[in-house]
Amino acid sequence: MGASGDSVRIFDTTMRDGEQAARINLNTGEKVQIARALERLNVDVIEAGFPASSKGDFDAVASVAAEVRSPIVAGLARTKESDITAAGEALRGAARPRIHTFIATSPIHMEYKLKLKPGEVLKEIERAVKLARSITPDVEFSAEDASRSDMDFLTEAFSLAIESGATTLNIPDTVGYAMPYEFEEFCRTVITRIGRPDVIWSVHCHNDLGLGVANSLAAVRAGARQVECTINGLGERAGNASMEEIVMGLRTRKDHFGVDTNIDTTKFYFTSKLVSGLTGVPVQPNKAIVGINAFAHEAGIHQHGMLCNRATYEIMTPESVGAPGTDLHLGKHSGRHAFNERVEQLGYQLTPEQGALAFEYFKELCDKKKDVSDGDIEAFLLDRILRLTPEARYELKGYTVAIGSGGKPTASITLSHDGTDTTKAAVGNGPVDAAYRSIRKILPFSPELAEFRIRATSELADAMGEAHVILRYKDIKAQGRGASTDIIEATIRAYVEAVNRLYSVAAAKEVEI
Ligand code: KIV
Ligand code: ZN
Repeated sequence: MGASGDSVRIFDTTMRDGEQAARINLNTGEKVQIARALERLNVDVIEAGFPASSKGDFDAVASVAAEVRSPIVAGLARTKESDITAAGEALRGAARPRIHTFIATSPIHMEYKLKLKPGEVLKEIERAVKLARSITPDVEFSAEDASRSDMDFLTEAFSLAIESGATTLNIPDTVGYAMPYEFEEFCRTVITRIGRPDVIWSVHCHNDLGLGVANSLAAVRAGARQVECTINGLGERAGNASMEEIVMGLRTRKDHFGVDTNIDTTKFYFTSKLVSGLTGVPVQPNKAIVGINAFAHEAGIHQHGMLCNRATYEIMTPESVGAPGTDLHLGKHSGRHAFNERVEQLGYQLTPEQGALAFEYFKELCDKKKDVSDGDIEAFLLDRILRLTPEARYELKGYTVAIGSGGKPTASITLSHDGTDTTKAAVGNGPVDAAYRSIRKILPFSPELAEFRIRATSELADAMGEAHVILRYKDIKAQGRGASTDIIEATIRAYVEAVNRLYSVAAAKEVEI
C-alpha cells in the first residue's frame, strides 16, 4: 500500500545498507523472511539489495521481488550501465519495481573516490537516470554525500535527474555529519530551489554522531516525504536512522509534525527480533522502542506514578509497538493450541508443516526442562525451524566432551559428510576450544573463528543456551546459530552451521574452499 495524502513514505534499507554492515551475508531465504515481515509492517518501499554486487544479492533481490506484492521493491545501482541493467533484470518479477541509482556529488568524493570532474558527474547522472527510466517508470536518484556538497552543484544535479526522469530524489547525510537544525535548513533550501511539487523528496541519514533519527525528523519538517531507514538502526559504521524510532517519533508527536506513516507499529517488536535473530546483531537493552528495557520501570517513584496513571512515565504503550507483556511460560501440560497461540502472539507465521515440526520439538524440550519461556521458543524456532542453511554438507552426528579440575578439556566429534561418518578428538583450552579443534581436524580447510557469543534464552537456571559464531575463511565470512538445553551442543551446532554456510557464501562469491 502506498503512502496516502501527505504521509511520509517509509523506505526500508535493512537488507541493503543494513546487511552491508552486518559483518555477514543473509541468504536469500532469510531475506525473503525479512521482506515478508516488512510487508506485514506495511512499509512503502523495500530496498532488497544491490544486484550488481554479487550473484547472491541479485538472486535475493529477484526472490524478494517475486515474493512481496504491496510494497515497492527497489534495487540499488551505481550509474554504471551494467549496474542499472542488472537491477532492472533482478526486479523483473516485481509488482512495483524501482531502480535506485546514485553517485556522489560532494567535492571530496568526486575528486578522491570517483576521480571525476563535476561536469562528468552530471553526464553520469543524465545517462544513468535516462537508462533506468527506459526500464521502469519508478526511478530514484541519490546524491551521495549530499550534505557535504556545494548547494549550487547539488541543485543542478537534482534538476538534471528530474529532467532525465527521476521521480524520487534522495538527500543523503552519508557520513552522519549534519546537525538537525542545519540539515532542516539544507533540505528546505534544496526543495524550495527546485520547486517541483510533483517529485518526492527523500532523506537517508547515517548515525555517526548519533543524530540519524533527529536529522530524518528535521528533514520531514522541511518537506521530505520519504525517509530511508533500517530496523534496529542496522547499517554502515554507527548505523542508519532507525525505522522504529522515526515512525514512533512521527506517531507520538503527530501534533508537532502534522504527518504520519502507514506503518502497523504493533509489528515492530517482532520484526526487530527477527532481524536481530537472523543477522546475529543484538539489540541493546536500552534501545528506544524495541530494547527489552524500553518499557521497564525500575525506580520506585516511577512505579508509583505508573500505578496511578501510566501516562505519567509512558508516552507510548508497549502494546502499540507489539512488545509482549509478561513472558508466559509453557510446559509439558500445554497442548498444541496453547503452543500455536503463543507462537502467533510472538509474531511468527509458520506453515502447517513448520507448525507441526515446531510442536514436536517443543514436546521434546518439555521432557528436558520444566518451563519453556518465550526466549526458548524464539531460539528454537530460529535454530531448528526457520534456519535456512542452503545445503548441510556436514551434519553433527555425535559429540562427547570431558572437563574437570584434573586434566585438559577433551572433545570428540563425529560429523557426517557425503554419507560417511568421521570422528576426531582434540584437547583444548576449554570444552568449546577442544570441540572446535576436533571439527577443524575433520574439515579439509581451517576457518578462523571471527566472533563467538553465547547467551541464555531466559533468566531461569534451566534456560537454553543460544550460541552465535562467525567464521572467516580467505575474504569471506559466514555465521551460524545453535540453540540447545546443553550449551556445549549449542556451540557445536553453531560452528557446524557456520561451516555449511561458508560453503554457500564461497559458491556465491566464487571463492574456492
Ligand atoms: O549512505 C548513502 O549515501 C547511501 C546511498 C547509496 C543512498 O547509502
Ligand atoms: Zn547509506
